[in-house]
Amino acid sequence: MVRVQGSPLLSILLVGLTLTIFAVDAFTPLDVAIAVMYVVVVLLSASVWRRSGVMLTSAVCLCLTLLAYALSHAATFSGPASGRMVVSLAAIGITAWLALRWQAATNALIAREEALHRSQAQLAHVTRVTMLGELAASIAHEVNQPLAAIATNGEASLRWLNRPQPELGEARAAIGSLLEAAGRASEVIRRIRALARRSDPRHLPLALNDVALEAAGLVRRELASHQVTLKLDLAPGLPQVCGDRVQLQQVLINLLMNAMQAMQHCAPGQAVLTLRTRSCDEGGVTCSVADTGPGIPADHLPKLFDAFFSTKEDGMGMGLPICRSIIETHGGRIWAGAQAGGAVLLFSLPALRRNMPEGAP
Ligand SMILES: Nc1ncnc2c1ncn2[C@@H]1O[C@H](COP(=O)(O)OP(=O)(O)OP(=O)(O)O)[C@@H](O)[C@H]1O
Ligand SMILES: [Mg+2]
Repeated sequence: MVRVQGSPLLSILLVGLTLTIFAVDAFTPLDVAIAVMYVVVVLLSASVWRRSGVMLTSAVCLCLTLLAYALSHAATFSGPASGRMVVSLAAIGITAWLALRWQAATNALIAREEALHRSQAQLAHVTRVTMLGELAASIAHEVNQPLAAIATNGEASLRWLNRPQPELGEARAAIGSLLEAAGRASEVIRRIRALARRSDPRHLPLALNDVALEAAGLVRRELASHQVTLKLDLAPGLPQVCGDRVQLQQVLINLLMNAMQAMQHCAPGQAVLTLRTRSCDEGGVTCSVADTGPGIPADHLPKLFDAFFSTKEDGMGMGLPICRSIIETHGGRIWAGAQAGGAVLLFSLPALRRNMPEGAP
């Protein structure tokens, strides 16, 4: 969809300017090519109206130039005045042609940029679904836990109710726990469905700490099965950020999975992953994922975020490039930091601006 900035105020201003130029051109005895001023009208119209509007404006300007000449020189032919009129017509015509070309080029650029954003979102979605496949065992476990609790509490309630003297209070409590577990299960499924769904990114105000907790929840089981200790160090009172919850979760899960994979050869008890959030100097929020793995060799740093750069046998090398594209479309930046022993990946996001329109990228 091609965007053209439109403003009623500018439109009124353009009409006013056109009429003023016409009045000065037709009814004042100035010996200058006033009609050349129509080029300003034509140029401005290109940033207010679409192609047809610009063509109509140019045609109106050409007609008004001819009309003004006819009104002021109908009785007597004047060579210099005719020359000025021809110069004005040529200037308006050339400006209209240039303005239309500029508008077409700008619109093509905008369309290309939008197509690029669409492809990036599609790529992010594909890699997200792949990531869910890797997390399948964790996800199954996350869902299984509340399901087991539902079954246990259901059986307990039946037992309380089947007693010769039914224990209604106990049964009620067990059913309460059952409902709570059902809520937990549906919450896990809701989060997974959100990750799997292909939807346009929705940028909304959110607390990065909540996103971090959700992402940690989704990989918790995976970390436990790899004997990785997760330390959460989330600063309280951070400013909100504006972002797409699902995409930011994807970034965090990618970073957590990379850190976990990097620590697979750590001695038992030595694999520690620290997920930290802090407010940053520029007023935004910084999130870091630090591990105690082998770290990133200096010669890998320049290509870390390049597509298809991977040192893993089964690695696609798309995790970090996707993270970068997501963080950059959120107006933030991502980088690998320096840390003694292990690696640390950080990203920062600008704080939510007040009065930001909902859904604004
Ligand atoms: N925490 C880390 N410690 C050490 N090396 C890392 C770490 N995170 C990333 N890397 C390096 O960066 C490379 C690129 O990571 P990236 O996530 O882009 O791809 P990948 O993990 O290899 O594959 P995938 O596309 O499946 O995620 C990794 O192969 C690894 O060499
Ligand atoms: Mg990866």
